Amino acid sequence: MSAASDNVYLPKLAVLDRVVDEIAEVKTFYWHFENPDEQKAFRRFRPGQFAQVSLFGAGEFPASLPPSPTEHDTFFTVRNVGSCTAALHQLQPGERFAVRGPYGNGFPMNQYAGKNLVFVAGGIGLIPLRSCIVYALAHRDQFASLQVFYGARTPRELMYRDTLRQWEQSAGVECHLTVDRAGPDWSGHVGVVGSLFERPGVQLPVANTIAFVCGPPVMFRFVIKDLLAMGLPEACIVSTLERYMKCGVGKCGHCCIGVAYVCVDGPVFTYEQIKKLGEDI
Ligand code: FES
Repeated sequence: MSAASDNVYLPKLAVLDRVVDEIAEVKTFYWHFENPDEQKAFRRFRPGQFAQVSLFGAGEFPASLPPSPTEHDTFFTVRNVGSCTAALHQLQPGERFAVRGPYGNGFPMNQYAGKNLVFVAGGIGLIPLRSCIVYALAHRDQFASLQVFYGARTPRELMYRDTLRQWEQSAGVECHLTVDRAGPDWSGHVGVVGSLFERPGVQLPVANTIAFVCGPPVMFRFVIKDLLAMGLPEACIVSTLERYMKCGVGKCGHCCIGVAYVCVDGPVFTYEQIKKLGEDI
Protein backbone atom coordinates (compact mmCIF):
# COMPACT_ATOMS: atom_id res chain seq x y z
CA MET A 1 0.00 0.00 0.00
CA SER A 2 1.40 3.43 -0.88
CA ALA A 3 1.95 6.25 1.60
CA ALA A 4 -0.62 8.33 -0.29
CA SER A 5 -3.37 5.77 0.23
CA ASP A 6 -2.52 5.66 3.98
CA ASN A 7 -3.19 9.38 4.28
CA VAL A 8 -6.48 9.74 6.20
CA TYR A 9 -6.99 13.25 4.82
CA LEU A 10 -6.74 12.20 1.19
CA PRO A 11 -10.10 12.25 -0.62
CA LYS A 12 -10.56 9.40 -3.10
CA LEU A 13 -12.27 9.88 -6.43
CA ALA A 14 -15.87 8.70 -6.61
CA VAL A 15 -18.41 8.53 -9.45
CA LEU A 16 -22.09 9.34 -9.09
CA ASP A 17 -24.28 6.47 -10.34
CA ARG A 18 -27.83 7.69 -9.79
CA VAL A 19 -29.92 10.10 -7.77
CA VAL A 20 -33.25 9.43 -6.06
CA ASP A 21 -35.53 12.20 -4.79
CA GLU A 22 -36.55 11.61 -1.18
CA ILE A 23 -38.43 14.69 0.03
CA ALA A 24 -38.17 18.40 -0.81
CA GLU A 25 -34.47 19.40 -0.93
CA VAL A 26 -33.35 15.92 0.15
CA LYS A 27 -31.91 13.40 -2.31
CA THR A 28 -30.13 10.07 -2.10
CA PHE A 29 -26.92 9.79 -4.13
CA TYR A 30 -25.73 6.33 -5.14
CA TRP A 31 -22.03 6.23 -5.99
CA HIS A 32 -18.87 4.12 -6.13
CA PHE A 33 -15.16 4.74 -5.81
CA GLU A 34 -13.20 4.74 -9.07
CA ASN A 35 -10.68 2.37 -7.50
CA PRO A 36 -12.32 -0.96 -6.53
CA ASP A 37 -9.77 -1.44 -3.70
CA GLU A 38 -10.90 1.81 -2.13
CA GLN A 39 -14.52 0.71 -2.52
CA LYS A 40 -13.71 -2.52 -0.72
CA ALA A 41 -11.87 -0.73 2.11
CA PHE A 42 -14.65 1.84 2.57
CA ARG A 43 -17.32 -0.86 2.73
CA ARG A 44 -15.99 -1.88 6.16
CA PHE A 45 -17.79 1.11 7.71
CA ARG A 46 -19.99 0.66 10.79
CA PRO A 47 -23.58 1.93 11.22
CA GLY A 48 -23.48 5.49 12.57
CA GLN A 49 -20.16 6.48 11.00
CA PHE A 50 -19.81 9.38 8.55
CA ALA A 51 -17.67 10.44 5.59
CA GLN A 52 -16.34 13.74 4.28
CA VAL A 53 -17.61 14.54 0.78
CA SER A 54 -15.71 16.96 -1.53
CA LEU A 55 -17.15 18.77 -4.51
CA PHE A 56 -14.52 20.30 -6.76
CA GLY A 57 -14.47 24.08 -6.51
CA ALA A 58 -17.16 24.10 -3.81
CA GLY A 59 -15.68 22.48 -0.69
CA GLU A 60 -16.26 19.61 1.67
CA PHE A 61 -19.05 18.58 4.05
CA PRO A 62 -19.73 15.66 6.43
CA ALA A 63 -22.40 13.14 5.48
CA SER A 64 -23.92 10.30 7.52
CA LEU A 65 -23.80 6.85 6.01
CA PRO A 66 -27.40 5.61 5.70
CA PRO A 67 -26.64 2.24 4.06
CA SER A 68 -25.89 -0.76 6.20
CA PRO A 69 -22.57 -2.49 5.52
CA THR A 70 -24.74 -5.56 4.84
CA GLU A 71 -26.21 -3.86 1.74
CA HIS A 72 -24.63 -3.83 -1.68
CA ASP A 73 -25.15 -0.15 -2.53
CA THR A 74 -23.09 2.79 -1.27
CA PHE A 75 -25.02 6.04 -0.90
CA PHE A 76 -25.52 9.30 0.98
CA THR A 77 -28.80 11.07 1.67
CA VAL A 78 -28.13 14.79 1.70
CA ARG A 79 -30.25 17.86 2.32
CA ASN A 80 -29.49 20.90 0.20
CA VAL A 81 -28.46 23.39 2.88
CA GLY A 82 -25.40 25.26 1.53
CA SER A 83 -23.03 25.74 -1.37
CA CYS A 84 -21.30 22.32 -1.04
CA THR A 85 -24.49 20.32 -0.69
CA ALA A 86 -26.00 22.38 -3.53
CA ALA A 87 -23.03 21.39 -5.72
CA LEU A 88 -23.74 17.71 -4.98
CA HIS A 89 -27.43 18.24 -5.75
CA GLN A 90 -26.46 19.62 -9.18
CA LEU A 91 -24.15 16.72 -10.04
CA GLN A 92 -25.24 14.41 -12.86
CA PRO A 93 -24.72 10.63 -13.02
CA GLY A 94 -21.25 9.87 -14.37
CA GLU A 95 -19.72 13.01 -12.82
CA ARG A 96 -17.00 12.79 -10.22
CA PHE A 97 -16.56 14.02 -6.68
CA ALA A 98 -14.40 12.76 -3.80
CA VAL A 99 -14.91 11.00 -0.50
CA ARG A 100 -12.71 10.33 2.53
CA GLY A 101 -13.57 8.24 5.57
CA PRO A 102 -15.35 6.44 7.10
CA TYR A 103 -14.86 8.33 10.35
CA GLY A 104 -16.29 8.35 13.85
CA ASN A 105 -17.14 5.68 16.38
CA GLY A 106 -20.46 4.39 14.99
CA PHE A 107 -23.02 2.41 16.98
CA PRO A 108 -21.47 -0.57 18.83
CA MET A 109 -23.99 -3.03 17.38
CA ASN A 110 -22.03 -6.06 18.67
CA GLN A 111 -22.43 -4.82 22.24
CA TYR A 112 -26.19 -4.69 21.73
CA ALA A 113 -26.47 -8.41 20.93
CA GLY A 114 -29.38 -10.03 22.80
CA LYS A 115 -31.07 -6.69 23.52
CA ASN A 116 -34.39 -5.19 22.45
CA LEU A 117 -33.71 -2.40 19.98
CA VAL A 118 -36.10 0.55 19.83
CA PHE A 119 -35.52 3.08 17.03
CA VAL A 120 -37.22 6.45 17.31
CA ALA A 121 -36.73 8.95 14.48
CA GLY A 122 -38.27 12.18 13.28
CA GLY A 123 -37.91 13.66 9.79
CA ILE A 124 -34.41 13.35 8.36
CA GLY A 125 -33.30 11.85 11.70
CA LEU A 126 -34.00 8.53 9.97
CA ILE A 127 -30.86 9.00 7.82
CA PRO A 128 -28.30 7.86 10.43
CA LEU A 129 -30.67 5.29 11.96
CA ARG A 130 -31.49 3.60 8.65
CA SER A 131 -28.08 1.91 8.69
CA CYS A 132 -28.62 0.37 12.15
CA ILE A 133 -32.16 -0.80 11.37
CA VAL A 134 -31.11 -2.54 8.13
CA TYR A 135 -28.06 -3.99 9.92
CA ALA A 136 -30.21 -5.29 12.79
CA LEU A 137 -32.66 -6.90 10.33
CA ALA A 138 -29.76 -8.55 8.48
CA HIS A 139 -28.57 -9.98 11.83
CA ARG A 140 -32.08 -10.54 13.16
CA ASP A 141 -31.20 -13.60 15.27
CA GLN A 142 -28.66 -11.56 17.28
CA PHE A 143 -31.25 -9.23 18.79
CA ALA A 144 -34.42 -9.64 20.88
CA SER A 145 -37.29 -7.42 19.64
CA LEU A 146 -36.92 -4.69 16.98
CA GLN A 147 -39.27 -1.72 16.92
CA VAL A 148 -39.23 1.36 14.69
CA PHE A 149 -41.20 4.51 15.54
CA TYR A 150 -40.91 7.12 12.81
CA GLY A 151 -42.71 10.36 12.18
CA ALA A 152 -42.67 13.34 9.83
CA ARG A 153 -44.67 16.52 9.57
CA THR A 154 -46.67 15.32 6.55
CA PRO A 155 -46.89 12.07 4.55
CA ARG A 156 -44.80 13.71 1.80
CA GLU A 157 -41.97 14.24 4.28
CA LEU A 158 -41.53 10.56 5.18
CA MET A 159 -38.08 9.42 4.04
CA TYR A 160 -37.10 6.12 2.36
CA ARG A 161 -40.69 5.18 1.52
CA ASP A 162 -39.82 1.91 -0.22
CA THR A 163 -37.73 0.82 2.75
CA LEU A 164 -40.50 1.84 5.18
CA ARG A 165 -42.92 -0.32 3.19
CA GLN A 166 -40.52 -3.27 3.48
CA TRP A 167 -40.21 -2.77 7.22
CA GLU A 168 -43.99 -2.54 7.59
CA GLN A 169 -44.31 -5.89 5.81
CA SER A 170 -41.42 -7.57 7.58
CA ALA A 171 -42.09 -10.06 10.36
CA GLY A 172 -38.72 -9.19 11.88
CA VAL A 173 -39.53 -5.64 12.91
CA GLU A 174 -42.54 -3.79 14.31
CA CYS A 175 -42.78 -0.55 12.32
CA HIS A 176 -45.02 2.31 13.45
CA LEU A 177 -45.41 5.47 11.35
CA THR A 178 -47.05 8.77 12.10
CA VAL A 179 -47.44 12.25 10.64
CA ASP A 180 -48.27 15.53 12.36
CA ARG A 181 -50.69 16.54 9.61
CA ALA A 182 -52.49 13.95 7.51
CA GLY A 183 -53.54 14.45 3.89
CA PRO A 184 -56.05 12.64 1.67
CA ASP A 185 -53.42 10.00 0.92
CA TRP A 186 -52.83 9.10 4.59
CA SER A 187 -54.96 6.69 6.61
CA GLY A 188 -52.35 5.97 9.26
CA HIS A 189 -51.66 7.41 12.70
CA VAL A 190 -51.65 11.18 13.23
CA GLY A 191 -49.70 12.76 16.06
CA VAL A 192 -46.17 13.32 17.32
CA VAL A 193 -43.76 10.37 17.36
CA GLY A 194 -44.15 9.90 21.13
CA SER A 195 -47.91 9.35 20.70
CA LEU A 196 -47.06 6.08 18.92
CA PHE A 197 -45.86 4.65 22.25
CA GLU A 198 -49.46 4.86 23.53
CA ARG A 199 -51.05 3.18 20.54
CA PRO A 200 -53.17 0.12 21.41
CA GLY A 201 -51.05 -3.00 21.18
CA VAL A 202 -47.71 -1.19 21.40
CA GLN A 203 -45.51 -2.41 24.21
CA LEU A 204 -42.18 -0.75 24.58
CA PRO A 205 -39.77 -2.98 26.49
CA VAL A 206 -37.77 -1.21 29.20
CA ALA A 207 -35.54 -3.99 30.54
CA ASN A 208 -32.62 -5.08 28.38
CA THR A 209 -33.37 -2.33 25.84
CA ILE A 210 -31.34 0.16 23.81
CA ALA A 211 -33.27 3.11 22.38
CA PHE A 212 -31.82 4.94 19.36
CA VAL A 213 -33.23 8.47 19.08
CA CYS A 214 -32.56 10.89 16.20
CA GLY A 215 -34.58 13.83 15.02
CA PRO A 216 -35.23 17.54 15.40
CA PRO A 217 -34.45 19.02 18.86
CA VAL A 218 -38.09 19.40 19.95
CA MET A 219 -38.88 15.80 19.07
CA PHE A 220 -35.66 14.63 20.74
CA ARG A 221 -36.46 16.39 24.01
CA PHE A 222 -40.02 15.02 24.20
CA VAL A 223 -39.03 11.47 23.26
CA ILE A 224 -36.20 11.45 25.82
CA LYS A 225 -38.65 12.65 28.46
CA ASP A 226 -41.07 9.83 27.55
CA LEU A 227 -38.34 7.16 27.56
CA LEU A 228 -36.91 8.29 30.90
CA ALA A 229 -40.42 8.39 32.40
CA MET A 230 -40.89 4.78 31.30
CA GLY A 231 -37.75 3.89 33.26
CA LEU A 232 -35.18 3.57 30.49
CA PRO A 233 -31.71 4.42 31.91
CA GLU A 234 -29.86 7.39 30.35
CA ALA A 235 -26.98 5.09 29.41
CA CYS A 236 -29.36 2.96 27.32
CA ILE A 237 -30.47 5.84 25.09
CA VAL A 238 -28.13 6.57 22.16
CA SER A 239 -28.06 9.26 19.51
CA THR A 240 -25.74 10.93 17.02
CA LEU A 241 -24.61 14.53 17.47
CA GLU A 242 -24.31 16.81 14.47
CA ARG A 243 -21.37 19.17 14.21
CA TYR A 244 -19.74 20.86 11.27
CA MET A 245 -16.79 18.51 10.91
CA LYS A 246 -13.64 19.81 9.18
CA CYS A 247 -10.76 17.36 9.49
CA GLY A 248 -12.91 14.46 10.74
CA VAL A 249 -9.94 12.89 12.52
CA GLY A 250 -9.52 14.78 15.81
CA LYS A 251 -6.94 17.37 14.70
CA CYS A 252 -8.60 20.72 13.96
CA GLY A 253 -10.81 21.11 17.04
CA HIS A 254 -13.76 22.32 14.96
CA CYS A 255 -16.19 19.77 16.36
CA CYS A 256 -15.31 20.05 20.07
CA ILE A 257 -18.04 19.96 22.70
CA GLY A 258 -16.43 20.28 26.12
CA VAL A 259 -13.78 17.57 26.30
CA ALA A 260 -15.14 15.51 23.40
CA TYR A 261 -14.29 15.60 19.72
CA VAL A 262 -17.52 14.67 17.97
CA CYS A 263 -15.58 13.35 14.95
CA VAL A 264 -13.62 10.72 16.88
CA ASP A 265 -15.38 10.30 20.27
CA GLY A 266 -18.74 10.44 18.44
CA PRO A 267 -20.87 11.14 16.56
CA VAL A 268 -22.61 8.40 18.57
CA PHE A 269 -23.09 9.21 22.26
CA THR A 270 -25.37 7.91 24.99
CA TYR A 271 -27.80 10.38 26.48
CA GLU A 272 -25.82 10.07 29.72
CA GLN A 273 -22.67 11.26 27.88
CA ILE A 274 -24.55 14.03 26.05
CA LYS A 275 -25.77 15.39 29.38
CA LYS A 276 -22.25 15.29 30.87
CA LEU A 277 -20.91 17.18 27.86
CA GLY A 278 -23.46 19.89 28.70
CA GLU A 279 -24.86 19.65 25.19
CA ASP A 280 -28.23 21.36 24.96
CA ILE A 281 -30.20 19.55 22.29
S1 FES B 1 -13.53 17.84 12.84
FE1 FES B 1 -11.48 18.33 13.30
S2 FES B 1 -11.26 17.73 15.35
FE2 FES B 1 -13.23 17.01 14.79
